[in-house]
Amino acid sequence: MNNPTALTEAHLPAVAALERLCFAEPWSESALKLLCHKTGLGVVIPPEEGEDTARAYGGMTVVLDEGSITNIAVRPDLRRLGLGRAVVTALLERAKATGVTDVYLEVRVSNEPAIALYRSLGFETVGTRKNFYKLPTEDAYVMKWHASESTNEK
Ligand SMILES: CC(C)(COP(=O)(O)OP(=O)(O)OC[C@H]1O[C@@H](n2cnc3c(N)ncnc32)[C@H](O)[C@@H]1OP(=O)(O)O)[C@@H](O)C(=O)NCCC(=O)NCCS
Repeated sequence: MNNPTALTEAHLPAVAALERLCFAEPWSESALKLLCHKTGLGVVIPPEEGEDTARAYGGMTVVLDEGSITNIAVRPDLRRLGLGRAVVTALLERAKATGVTDVYLEVRVSNEPAIALYRSLGFETVGTRKNFYKLPTEDAYVMKWHASESTNEK
């Protein structure tokens, strides 16, 4: 099953394993708890039986009508199958349902797959942050999605 579902604390060990697989500075299980409570939301495609790493996940922090995507990740062996798009779409739908109208994110300027994914869902580049990332040091694009201008469809 590759349908995104709401992230709960029960998913966190598998999501932390996915973070370690995908990022040089992974979020810990305790940091990820933020996404399961009032100020955050998350979606996950959980591991299948026999797997210990989530298939995909996405997280967002929320303040009033503004969301900020913390991370999106798809297991390396499952990329280019539509899981990333399914996760971001589900995250935006959940955010919209809670009254979020604007969603921001940062992405490495070299991360062409992620930039293409976000653009295909209606995000636009609105700025650059110098040396935002470490390991390796790199600039970030700031991208923004506005609910009324987007359909969540490619
Ligand atoms: C970015 C990421 C989440 C995309 O997930 P995915 O499941 O492979 O993406 P999808 O299969 O849903 O692809 C959706 C669209 O994204 C774009 N895309 C995805 N991978 C791409 C690639 N390697 N090259 C170019 N475009 C790509 C395409 O527009 C694609 O649409 P298409 O398949 O119709 O052409 C995944 O590559 C990943 O986990 N990367 C490592 C972690 C990361 O960089 N996260 C983002 C942090 S800001």
